[in-house]
Amino acid sequence: MSPQEMSELSGRRILLGVTGGIAAYKSAELIRGLRRAGAEVRVVMTEAAAQFITPMTLQALSGWPVRQDLFDREHEAAMGHIELARWADLVLVAPATADFLARLAAGMADDLLTALCLAAETRICVAPAMNQGMWRNPATEANVAVLKQRGIESWGPAEGDQACGETGPGRMLEPEELIRRVANLYPGTVLRGVRVLLTAGPTREPLDPVRYLTNRSSGKMGYALAGAFRDQGARVVLVSGPVHLSSPPGIEVTRVETALEMQAAVMDRVEMCDIFVACAAVADYRPLEAAPHKIKKDAQSMEIGMTRNPDILAGVAGLPKPPFCVGFAAETQRPEAYAEQKRITKGVDMIAANLVGAAEGGFEKDENSLTVLWEGGRVVLPMSEKRRLAEALVEQIAKQYEKTDTAENS
Ligand code: PMT
Repeated sequence: MSPQEMSELSGRRILLGVTGGIAAYKSAELIRGLRRAGAEVRVVMTEAAAQFITPMTLQALSGWPVRQDLFDREHEAAMGHIELARWADLVLVAPATADFLARLAAGMADDLLTALCLAAETRICVAPAMNQGMWRNPATEANVAVLKQRGIESWGPAEGDQACGETGPGRMLEPEELIRRVANLYPGTVLRGVRVLLTAGPTREPLDPVRYLTNRSSGKMGYALAGAFRDQGARVVLVSGPVHLSSPPGIEVTRVETALEMQAAVMDRVEMCDIFVACAAVADYRPLEAAPHKIKKDAQSMEIGMTRNPDILAGVAGLPKPPFCVGFAAETQRPEAYAEQKRITKGVDMIAANLVGAAEGGFEKDENSLTVLWEGGRVVLPMSEKRRLAEALVEQIAKQYEKTDTAENS
C-alpha cells in the first residue's frame, strides 16, 4: 500500500462484519491492514462466523470487544447497536456469504449484523465469498442486484480455486485489495475530521393539508456539495428539504419540509459543526396560518396573508460562536452585487452567487456556475456539471476555512 493510501484511512471508523464462510480467516489480515492504514476497526460477527475464526482473535487484532449478539446487555449498555451503526464511516462485510446477502436484500434484522446494516445511514460495502455455484445462482444474482440498487457496493468476488475443490467466481478479494478499495472511497484529505452541516433543497410551506408554496430547487447543488465535502474527509450532516434524490452514502441526512423545521434541525446540530453551508432555497415567507381543511374554491379571488420565515443562515452567523459560514445567493439579475450585500448583511464568511431563471445553470439543471465572494477576494467558477462545481467550491471553502482556523488558533 502506498504511504498516501495509508494516511487516507487515519481517523476512519470501519465496522467490519464477518459472516460464516471459510474466508473468515482472512478477516484477521484485513483488520491488521486496516489498522495499519490508520483506521479504527470494530468487529461484528455472526454466529456462523465464530465457527471459522474465534472472536478472541479478532478482538486481539481490532483492540475492541467483538460484538456477536443483538441481545447482549453488557455491550448494548456500552454502545447500543444503533449507536454502533452511527459510529461507523463505513460498514464493510467481509466475507459476505450468500445467506447474509439474501438476508440483507430482504431487509431482515434478526441478528446484530443485519440489524446494524438496516439502521446504518453510512456507506455499506460487501465482499462476497461463497461456492461458485451459489454465486452464479439466479437467487444470489437477484439479491446482489437489489443491494446494488440500494447503493450497497459489492466488491468481488474473485475467480479461482475454491476451498471446496471447485474453480470459478466466489473467492473473497484479498485483504490488500479490499484495503485499497476502502482507501479509494476517500480520495481527499483536505478536510479530514472537519464537521460540516449543510442545508439543501427547497422548503414547503403549507396552505392547507393538500397544498403548499415552494420553489424550483431540486437539491442537486446541495447534494453534490455534501458528496464533495465527504470526499475531502469531512463528516457531513445534511439537512434536506423535500427532494427526489437518494441519501448520499456516508452522509447523515435529516429530512424536513418547512423552513421552521429546517431551522430547528440546523439549530439542533449547529454546535457540533465547524463549517455551515446554506445551499437550501428556504421560503422567505410562509402563510400566516395553514387552513386545517382543504380550501374550497368558492370565491373568485383570494388573498393569502404571509409572514416572514426566520433567516436560518443569518441566525447561525449571528451565534456567539458561529461556525465558518458559507451562504448562497440566487439572483435573477446583478448576482454579484446582491450577493455581496447578502454576505455583509447576513454576516457570513463566504457567499456563492448564482444566476437563476436563465437558460443555463441555477435551479434544477445539472450544470451551474458560481461567483464566490469573501472579504477581499473573489473567484469565478465557470459553468460545469454540479458535481465538478461542488468540488471546486469545496476547495475554495477549505482554503478560506483553513486561514480563519489557523488565525483563531494562533
Ligand atoms: O437545488 P438546485 O436545483 O440544484 O439549485 C441550486 C440552488 C439555485 C438552489 C443553489 O445554488 C442556491 O442558490 N441556493 C440558495 C437559494 C436561496 O434561497 O438564495 P437566497 O438568495 O434567497 O438566500 C440567501 C442565503 O440565505 C442562502 O444561503 C439561503 O440558504 C439562506 N436563507 C435564505 C432564507 C432563509 N429564510 N433562510 C436562509 O438560510
